Amino acid sequence: MAKIIAIANQKGGVGKTTSAVNLAASMAATKRKILLVDLDPQGNATMGSGVDKYDVEYSAYDLLVDDLPPEKIIITETSGGFDLIAGNGDVTAAEVKMMEMYGRELRLKNALAKVKDNYDYIFIDCPPSLNMLTVNAMAASDSVIVPMQCEYYALEGLTALMDTISQLASVVNPDLKIEGILRTMYDPRNRLANDVSEQLKHHFGDKVYRTVIPRNVRLAEAPSFGAPVMYYDKSSSGAKAYLALAGEMLRRSNKIKAA
Ligand SMILES: Nc1ncnc2c1ncn2[C@@H]1O[C@H](COP(=O)(O)OP(=O)(O)OP(=O)(O)O)[C@@H](O)[C@H]1O
Ligand SMILES: [Mg+2]
Repeated sequence: MAKIIAIANQKGGVGKTTSAVNLAASMAATKRKILLVDLDPQGNATMGSGVDKYDVEYSAYDLLVDDLPPEKIIITETSGGFDLIAGNGDVTAAEVKMMEMYGRELRLKNALAKVKDNYDYIFIDCPPSLNMLTVNAMAASDSVIVPMQCEYYALEGLTALMDTISQLASVVNPDLKIEGILRTMYDPRNRLANDVSEQLKHHFGDKVYRTVIPRNVRLAEAPSFGAPVMYYDKSSSGAKAYLALAGEMLRRSNKIKAA
């Protein structure tokens, strides 16, 4: 049965989508069965997976609002070797429509329950806000990966985010865990980044992934080629970092299983 992981941070542009797409591809490269759910109306994860968000027949909208069977919605032809539930502007309409629905917080959870057995991991790329879409992601997930940039105020923002996650969880999903905190766009020559990084480790201990995602232009270029970075430039530092992250996650979960 799949472990469902939301990739969330209400702050915009911290590397949620880049992490979702490249982690999905890296995990798929280890022969795991992966589903990526693009829950962001921006549809960046969809485009980054080589799927035209304007040209999809079904999207997360149909899953959340119309109760269409997931098998109908899931796109199996992506550039990353994983399956995809696409996101696009329609997902904004889903957010509005869900507001008047019974059990609106649990729409995604109930839909994913139907396909959970077919995958090893399901990753959910969240929008940069705390709306009903993100609430659905939190309700459906076993855990959350929080990508963050090591910059001034990052810790303050993170503490606020952790509080929000635990408040949300207490209402919709008391079992929700923090899977890990991921340092993104990291520049080791930047002193502030190093300071923040140290504080982060001090506060959150081994919740902070040892793997650090460096600032790497290849990661920013890959989406315009509609591909995860490992299929655009496999020797880039970005490609190696996301493969290392997948390895670290798998080792951690083996350790937990063995314990
Ligand atoms: N490690 C990196 N090195 C260089 N550029 C990066 C890196 N990670 C992300 N970027 C770039 O930074 C921008 C923001 O990244 P991304 O879209 O992944 O963030 P996000 O948190 O999903 O944003 P949003 O909140 O808008 O959904 C993008 O242009 C992306 O290509
Ligand atoms: Mg995004």
